[in-house]
Amino acid sequence: MHTILDPSLVNDDGLTEQAQDKTAPQGMLFFHAKEGQPLSTPWQVATARSAMLKMCDLPKGLIVDCACGSGLQLAAHASILQRPALGIELSPQRAQASAKNMQIVARQLKAESKPWFKESRILAGDGTDAPGALEVLRGHIDAPVALLHLDPARPRNSRTHGLDEMQPSLDDVFAAWTPYFAEHPRGPALLLDLSPRLTTVQRNKVEALVDNIWPGLGRTWVWTSRGRGRVDRLALWLGAASSEGVARRFVRIPPRLGDEPLVLSTALESDEETFPKLNIYPPKRGEYVSILDAALLESGLVSTWLEGVSKEGMGRWASVDGRRPQLHHDHPLQPVKRNDNLLIQATGKVVALIREPLSDQSIDGLVEIALEHNMKSLTLRLNMDPADQPKWQGSLDRQLSRRHGERDGFVAQHPSGDVLLLCVCHSES
Ligand SMILES: C[S@@+](CC[C@H](N)C(=O)[O-])C[C@H]1O[C@@H](n2cnc3c(N)ncnc32)[C@H](O)[C@@H]1O
Repeated sequence: MHTILDPSLVNDDGLTEQAQDKTAPQGMLFFHAKEGQPLSTPWQVATARSAMLKMCDLPKGLIVDCACGSGLQLAAHASILQRPALGIELSPQRAQASAKNMQIVARQLKAESKPWFKESRILAGDGTDAPGALEVLRGHIDAPVALLHLDPARPRNSRTHGLDEMQPSLDDVFAAWTPYFAEHPRGPALLLDLSPRLTTVQRNKVEALVDNIWPGLGRTWVWTSRGRGRVDRLALWLGAASSEGVARRFVRIPPRLGDEPLVLSTALESDEETFPKLNIYPPKRGEYVSILDAALLESGLVSTWLEGVSKEGMGRWASVDGRRPQLHHDHPLQPVKRNDNLLIQATGKVVALIREPLSDQSIDGLVEIALEHNMKSLTLRLNMDPADQPKWQGSLDRQLSRRHGERDGFVAQHPSGDVLLLCVCHSES
């Protein structure tokens, strides 16, 4: 049985967890319940996604989120698409938090009299009981589903990110909601917000579940990153919500609120086609080394991005996994858009090959070589014992700041053998 909540009438009695979302404008404090905050979609990600959804040709009808948690994604969809929304949440306290958060968003936007807000509802109950939910809503909402959003709960300490761990499960949700979608020539619109760590095999299984109900439904996989080389969200946009001819998309959310995300798209589907292959050559002075964003590689969009910023395309990959994917190339990268720089951890020209590994003893020698190349700073960009990193980086910073170098540089490790690459940052080289 579902309990109905009206976001324009709900109060915050009993809700105690309230926090400023770090990615939302100052003063936008959202409620959470039963430790729902870590599960909730950051406001900046939620709004960027809703803005992209606005560009899709969705049928008329309702936005439904059948496991809406604290309701942040739901409120973003409803306010940006200007459509009434229905959120369903198993936990009654989180359902109340969802309704309250939608009210907070509507107040912030001065939209309390808008139809999207007045007609939206939250239900406390089971999101897989679609007939039950629609029965309770009879007389309040009577529209087909324009988009079904699903961000299922997952165990926090999951190692496998198995599909069977998702609550509610994809197949239960698909089976329950199939009869209620609005008609659209490209099929029903769904947005599945899945674990960022799904393997290729698991992604294929998700696709098989979709094909089982809607054979051949259009699909676009979307990797979203907020930086630090991590994929924060992996979502599958389906049917009317997918983009024709786009199998994969990478979205880099910028650090500054209000800036446009960087979006890359490709029609290429398979991981074999899109993931770079190692192509290790001995390092040489005068070539360029770039350490790129690991999330960009994971999304399979790195070759698409390189087409825009490099004359050579894929170049020579010295490392393709881990936190510091390393590309060697003969011409400098030429970022076109301001956000292109967000995908470059470091780029520069190799000015020296150092065959002595880093140690307490070798740091002073490194300073001398850096000074020969007129450097004023040198950043260590290689794997090392976490206890050594601050010690050696601190020593480099102190010693170089006392001298009169002018250029910035970095040190990377070539994967074959113990060669360190001393590079001058590209803007200086
Ligand atoms: C990852 S959270 C959703 C977060 C949400 N996208 C947000 O922005 O706040 C998933 C939610 O699904 C709820 N849930 C799990 N099984 C459910 C079911 N059968 N029906 C409705 N909600 C369910 C959990 O209680 C949890 O709050």
